Amino acid sequence: MDKKYIVANWKMNPQTWAEAEQILDFVDDYLGSLGESKEFSLIFCPPFVFLEEAGKVLKTSHFEHEAFLGAQDIFWEDTGADTGEISGPMLNKLGAEYVIVGHSERRWKLGEPDETVNKKLKAILRNAMVPIVCVGERVRDGNFKEFLKEQVEKTFAGLTPDDIGKCIIAYEPVWAISSNPGARPDTPESAIESIHMIREVLIGNWKLEIGNLPKVLYGGSVTSKNAADFIGQKEIDGILVGGASVNKDEFVKILSQI
Ligand code: PGA
Repeated sequence: MDKKYIVANWKMNPQTWAEAEQILDFVDDYLGSLGESKEFSLIFCPPFVFLEEAGKVLKTSHFEHEAFLGAQDIFWEDTGADTGEISGPMLNKLGAEYVIVGHSERRWKLGEPDETVNKKLKAILRNAMVPIVCVGERVRDGNFKEFLKEQVEKTFAGLTPDDIGKCIIAYEPVWAISSNPGARPDTPESAIESIHMIREVLIGNWKLEIGNLPKVLYGGSVTSKNAADFIGQKEIDGILVGGASVNKDEFVKILSQI
């Protein structure tokens, strides 16, 4: 069986490198206690300011070959006068192998449209990194399937089937993300229904073959209490963990469910 992906999206946390290092050290000790039997690949996505240091830590000790570095965003141009932005070549130099793109906090809080997500997605591929592409409906209403279909179509527009096969998709219903008022996790059953639908759109529109389908993860209020319910499903290739990934005890508890 393929290893499951566990993506730790630290968002704008923690506040200091000392705290970040504590989380990584704690997880490293846990990996050491597992010996050879790891059923997961870890991708840590710290804030930009910790990428360089985190990258060094991930190359040492029990992390080596088990844990990878990811960024939380990218700019779509590789060079230019773009104040405040970070380019693909810069991320490459820091050792980032994955980049989250289209996270709902950027789509909805910062107004990033599908077209922008699409340009960023192409920049990640152009710079030989793996996009972790977030998609998900904002509300679960009668139209949510149409919304999701259109979002997937616009997000992946212009990509070849091969390029889409290189991506990881994170299905994250926005209403399930812990930072939203009243958030509650989706159920594995309904997440699988949406994941099926996403795969059908990719197969229908891009003629993707079953063997070339991207991995699809679930994200949204994943904790140690429900991680096993999602991870245990063969249709779900992993989880994207936000809030719980910066709580070292909770994150290791999540890993212990796999
Ligand atoms: P959450 O965040 O696990 O805190 O709900 C997930 C995400 O926003 O990616």
